[in-house]
Amino acid sequence: MDWIKIFESTADAKKVLTENQPKLLKVHGRSICLVRQGEKIYGVQNNCTHSEGSLHLGTINQLGDLVCPLHQHTYHLVTGVEVDQRSADLECFPIREGGDGVFIGMD
Ligand code: FES
Repeated sequence: MDWIKIFESTADAKKVLTENQPKLLKVHGRSICLVRQGEKIYGVQNNCTHSEGSLHLGTINQLGDLVCPLHQHTYHLVTGVEVDQRSADLECFPIREGGDGVFIGMD
């Protein structure tokens, strides 16, 4: 797995990522949807597996799940699973934070 630096520091990540506001990240030809919840950052594929909706334009519900803007399929950020099993799981990308920056892991 390659670890690609996406922020210089956790403080930088917090400045760019408003809590519970999905943001698009393009890295190595992939579109990733980033969501920060408190101290934790999640990365999942940005294209909804139902019909290619752009998940960074979606919302976070009261349970902290990511809701697609097109037909409201709802994904758990930790596992990528659609909560009602209506569509396939999202690919999830690990995020590593350290003194040397914030990194996303990609195969
Ligand atoms: S495209 Fe996301 S729910 Fe249909």
